[in-house]
Amino acid sequence: MKVSIVFTLQSALFFVLIVLLSPARVDGADLDAGQKVYATQCAVCHGTGGRPDADSPVVRGLGVMPADFSDPLFNSREPAGDWEMVIKHGGHALGLAEQMPAQGETLSDADIANVTAYIKSLVDTLAYPPGEMNLFLPTRTKKAFPEDEVVYIGRFTDQDGDNSQKHVLEFEKRVGKAGQAIVELVYESEGVVSELAEAEIGYKQALSFSQRHILSAAAVWAIPVEAEGDGELQTYLAYGRVLSDAWIFQSSLRLKFPFAGASDGEAEFAGIVHWVHTPWPRRIFPALEITATNPFRSRNGDLEWTVLPQARFGLTRGGHVALNLGVEVPLSDQTWDTRYYVTLLWDFADGSFFQGW
Ligand code: HEC
Repeated sequence: MKVSIVFTLQSALFFVLIVLLSPARVDGADLDAGQKVYATQCAVCHGTGGRPDADSPVVRGLGVMPADFSDPLFNSREPAGDWEMVIKHGGHALGLAEQMPAQGETLSDADIANVTAYIKSLVDTLAYPPGEMNLFLPTRTKKAFPEDEVVYIGRFTDQDGDNSQKHVLEFEKRVGKAGQAIVELVYESEGVVSELAEAEIGYKQALSFSQRHILSAAAVWAIPVEAEGDGELQTYLAYGRVLSDAWIFQSSLRLKFPFAGASDGEAEFAGIVHWVHTPWPRRIFPALEITATNPFRSRNGDLEWTVLPQARFGLTRGGHVALNLGVEVPLSDQTWDTRYYVTLLWDFADGSFFQGW
């Protein structure tokens, strides 16, 4: 127990340090210039204050509603970089409606940055975590951004005796300005035994965020369905950070407390670095993840380490449906040899599953 407390404290301290080291954002956009571009090139469809006028003949002629920048939730949840791509290359290139015209021929990159900063400024979004922090979903590290997402995770373990499989279906829904409800179903099979092992319900809240970092806390209650036992409470802190234009970092510290006895619980630290080498979402993004687990009952403080190389494959043009494939290899003397992970995610705030392929 003692070692776990030390481990937990060390990890928590590590968290605080990275948060403190986050530099402030430098923003060089010219809002006045952006407003001029907006008035001449965009307002006819998107409306003067960013809210499209459904009765205007132009909007009615489009057959699809232009984005409403005056809605703070919508305005905050999309990263400025994605919007710059849409403005430059047009809606179709990013899986949106082709009625949103490409402006790369008429507007310079500076114009596009300015008009994007201007539409971002049309409504106060300070209380909403910025879409910049909606980072790629890792395999084991918990994600900090509160979003609307359906995720399937399959885990296939090679081990002595019966190989085992675990299938998890997650449903996550944004609640309010910075919260998220979590519902999960866990199906396990090993040899001849297959069962809907447990259901999980939880809540996550973003506590601190900027354009470069996000810190969230969550609590999840795991309720056994067909599995033995009394269930457990899981709590975690999740942190995400933009390191540079091409690198992002995420980490989480998770504590598991089984109701049958907290000494059977464990602390798990996980961290991952993704290489974001292009702004185009339908690409392959490699990442390296590391985990360290410390069972509360371990007396000698042995940590179980694993390493998990993986890659995200953006499937739709806008990347709102993506696949993640990973292989986990134990670095300590775990009882299993290799684990294979398949993750399929659908960010349903960005459109239906079948849009933009
Ligand atoms: C001819 C009408 C039209 C004009 C002009 C136009 N847009 Fe759009 N825009 C649309 C429509 C329609 C959509 C919605 C696409 C969808 O949801 O599939 C859209 C979507 C967008 C989005 C994507 C929001 C998202 O993430 O869903 C951004 C950003 C945007 N427009 C910015 C601009 C800017 C900036 C300009 C001016 C430089 C501009 N638009 C000019 C019609 C237009």
